[in-house]
Amino acid sequence: MSVIEWLKDDPSANKKDREGKKRASISKWLKGEVGINTEAAIKRSFHETSIGESDVQISIRNIGKTYVKNGVETKAIDEISIDVRKGELVSFIGPSGCGKTTLLNMIAGLLPPTSGVVYVGSKECTGPGRDRGMVFQDFALLPWRTVKNNVELGLEIAGVPKAERSAKADEYLRIVGLEKFANSHINELSGGMKQRVGIARALIVEPDVILMDEPFGALDAQTRNLMQTQLIDILKTTKQTIIFITHSVDEAVYLSDKVVVLTKRPTTVNEVVEIPWSRPRDRTTPEFNEMKREIVAYLEHENVLVD
Ligand SMILES: Nc1ncnc2c1ncn2[C@@H]1O[C@H](COP(=O)(O)OP(=O)(O)OP(=O)(O)O)[C@@H](O)[C@H]1O
Ligand SMILES: [Mg+2]
Repeated sequence: MSVIEWLKDDPSANKKDREGKKRASISKWLKGEVGINTEAAIKRSFHETSIGESDVQISIRNIGKTYVKNGVETKAIDEISIDVRKGELVSFIGPSGCGKTTLLNMIAGLLPPTSGVVYVGSKECTGPGRDRGMVFQDFALLPWRTVKNNVELGLEIAGVPKAERSAKADEYLRIVGLEKFANSHINELSGGMKQRVGIARALIVEPDVILMDEPFGALDAQTRNLMQTQLIDILKTTKQTIIFITHSVDEAVYLSDKVVVLTKRPTTVNEVVEIPWSRPRDRTTPEFNEMKREIVAYLEHENVLVD
């Protein structure tokens, strides 16, 4: 039975019970009396949350975002739809200010979309969860805590006992090469070390998906290459799904299974480039450089400077 048939069929549409309220709100939606956000809520009420394909971990469906501040609207994201499969590393690259952080925050559940839906597995994303870990563009570390206490944060919030979380923090500090700095304070670290603390903090909760917002953007070229190699090593073991934001075409081609090239704001998908090679990759081959040239051409179309 379609939604319309169901509404017509049932005389209790205006009753004040739960079902009645739902039907009344659907009726309003059908008449165009309510906004698009209600559409998502209504779909949820119909349990239309299945995304069909079982190996899809994150499904971004018709996501849009318009910020409203002091009555002024800024349309950051026009519309994006993309699927990310389990164990895939998908990069998003696009002009500065086009809406990359906005998109990641919506996938993290930290920001509600204006339109569209994000599915995590088969469930609609309605807020943050332990299944997604975030590495923030500006580190977002707590300066009054030591390195180790910063890394432990997620486990502390989850109520994991002290001894267990301490052992886990040591393990992840070793993975990112910071075991000697466990008791240092954040202001004693370089930019690269701070970002590694941020990465360990996201990894420690062992999320299915790691959302990384230009995680290596503040690093010098050598440390950046080292961190890329470390990330590949970590993924060999953990097989996590990664959504990665970068301004670097070289980094995107080196790391990704799929590079999503975004347009300028209000952003949408310009092109999706599949990278069919296993990792680690050789940056010096003609094929690697040809792939970079292809992506740069899409970006130049958007008049952006890339490194
Ligand atoms: N909280 C907010 N309120 C109003 N406008 C915002 C807010 N956050 C972001 N914006 C605007 O939305 C647009 C997209 O911002 P966003 O930070 O997502 O871009 P970005 O692609 O991550 O940029 P960058 O590459 O510089 O990190 C920008 O025009 C920005 O000014
Ligand atoms: Mg950003």
